[in-house]
Amino acid sequence: MSDKKTDGLALDAKKAGERVGLTSDEIIINGGKPLRGRIEVRGAKNLATKAMVAALLGHKQSVLRDVPNISDVRVVAGLLALHGVLITRGENDEWILDPSNVEKAHKADIDAHAGSSRIPILFCGPLLHRLGEAFIPDLGGCRIGDRPIDFHLDALRKFGAVVDKQSGGISLTAPNGLRGANIELPYPSVGATEQVLLTGVLAEGHTELRNAAIEPEIIDLICILQKMGAIINVEPNRVIFIEGVKELGGYDHRAIADRNEAASWASAALATNGDIFVGGARQEELMTFLNVYRKVGGEFEVHDDGIRFWRKEGDLNPVTIETDVHPGFMTDWQQPLVVALTQAPGVSTIHETVYENRFGFTDALNQMGADIVVHKSGLEDERRRVKRREFEQAAVITGPTPLHGADIEVPDLRGGFSHLIAALTASGQSKVSNIGIIARGYENFIDKLRKLGADFIYEG
Ligand code: EPU
Repeated sequence: MSDKKTDGLALDAKKAGERVGLTSDEIIINGGKPLRGRIEVRGAKNLATKAMVAALLGHKQSVLRDVPNISDVRVVAGLLALHGVLITRGENDEWILDPSNVEKAHKADIDAHAGSSRIPILFCGPLLHRLGEAFIPDLGGCRIGDRPIDFHLDALRKFGAVVDKQSGGISLTAPNGLRGANIELPYPSVGATEQVLLTGVLAEGHTELRNAAIEPEIIDLICILQKMGAIINVEPNRVIFIEGVKELGGYDHRAIADRNEAASWASAALATNGDIFVGGARQEELMTFLNVYRKVGGEFEVHDDGIRFWRKEGDLNPVTIETDVHPGFMTDWQQPLVVALTQAPGVSTIHETVYENRFGFTDALNQMGADIVVHKSGLEDERRRVKRREFEQAAVITGPTPLHGADIEVPDLRGGFSHLIAALTASGQSKVSNIGIIARGYENFIDKLRKLGADFIYEG
C-alpha cells in the first residue's frame, strides 16, 4: 500500500470512528482467550440505511426501529438532514424521519457529508421524484474492487433520468418526469435492485425488473415500501414487478436484524473456541451460513430470541466455499470465517465470485502466521456450483497454522472484523489500527468485546 493510500484510509477510519464516538483508532488485543457470553445484534446496516433513504419518498413521517449505532447510519442521517428531512430520536433506538420539507442541498455540503459510504447513490430516484434533480458525489465504501455504478445509471436512464458526469460526482435531472421501465440487470446487484425499487415506486406506469437481487434486506425494503403505499410484486425467477403510484405516505417498521454481524460473532466463537449467544440472530436468513458453520466444525442452537454458537470437540474441518448472491453463501461472511479455517487441518478454498478483490485482508493473517495463497483470477474446480465470473478470486488456506500477535491495519469493514478475530485467536499481543472502519457496520463492538470477556486495551 502506498503511503498516500494508507493516509487516506486512516483518515476515513478516524472520521467513521468519530461519528459514533470512538476517540482512538487502535486497540491492543491479548489473544488466546475464548469469547464467551451474550451480545445482541440489531437492525441490519444494509437495510437501515436504505430504509432511511426510502423515508424521503413519503409525504408523512416514518418511524424506523432498532436503528444500529454505526457510522454508515450517521452518514445517511447527515445527508437526509442536508435535504431538509427532520430527524428525531425516540426511545429504544427508534428514529423518526419527517420529510415534509425536502429541499435542495449545496453540492459541496453533500460531498462533505457523504463520507466513505456507497449509500448516496440510492438518493438518485427519491431526489429526482421530490426535487427533479440530484447530485451524487464520487462514492466511497470498502475498497474491495472497482465497484462501478453502471447498472444504477443505466436503470435511471431507462426511467428517463438525464445523467451528467462531472468532476467530483454526477448530476441528474428528469426533465420529463420518471416513467416505468423494463430493466434486466446483467448481475443480480443488491444496490441496483434497490435503485430500481426506490425509483420505480413513484414512476408513472409499470416497471419490470429481471435478474433482481432478492436478499432478505431487499425483501424487508419492499415491506417498508408496501407500508408506504407502494405496489410491488416479487415474482418467480428473480422478477420484480412494480405498479407506480402517485404518492407515498410514511412507515413504521422494525429493521431486520443484521445477519452479517451475527455471522461475524459466530465466526469469532468458532475461531477462539468460545461460546457466544447472538441475540436477535435468525435462522431463516442465516441458513446457508449455518450449514457451512456445521461442516467446518461449529455447532449452534436456535432459540426464539437468537442463536447460540460454539465449537464442537475435536479438530475443525477444511471446506470449499463459493460466495454468491442470496440464497447463496454471502460474500460478507467469508472474511470473518477465514480465521477459523486457518486452524482447520487441511486445505480450504474460497471462491469469491461477487467481488473481484475481497482478499486484501489475508495479508495481515499471513503476517500472523497463516498460510493463505490468493489466486487473482480465480480457480477451476470441478465441484463448483456457482458459475465462473470474469472477475473473481480464490483463496487457498492451508492449516492448521498457529497465529501469533502482530501490528495490523484494518483494510475494509468485514476484513477489519476478521483482523479482530485473528488478534483474539492469536497467541501474544496484537495492535489493530484503523478500527474506525469497523464502526461503519459493527455497532458498539468494543463494548461487545468487553461483554464477551476479551482481553484488550482500548484507550478511548
Ligand atoms: N456491480 C457492477 N455495476 C453496478 C453495481 C454492481 O458491476 O452498477 C457489481 C459489483 O462490482 C460487484 C457485484 O456487482 O461485483 C455485486 O455488487 P452489488 O451491487 O450487489 O453490491 P452493493 O449493493 O454495492 C451490497 C452491500 C455489500 C454486500 C453486497 C453483496 C450495502 C451498502 N452494501 O453492496 O455489503 O457485500 O451488497 O451482498 O448494502 C458490507 O456490508 O461490508 C458490504 C460490502
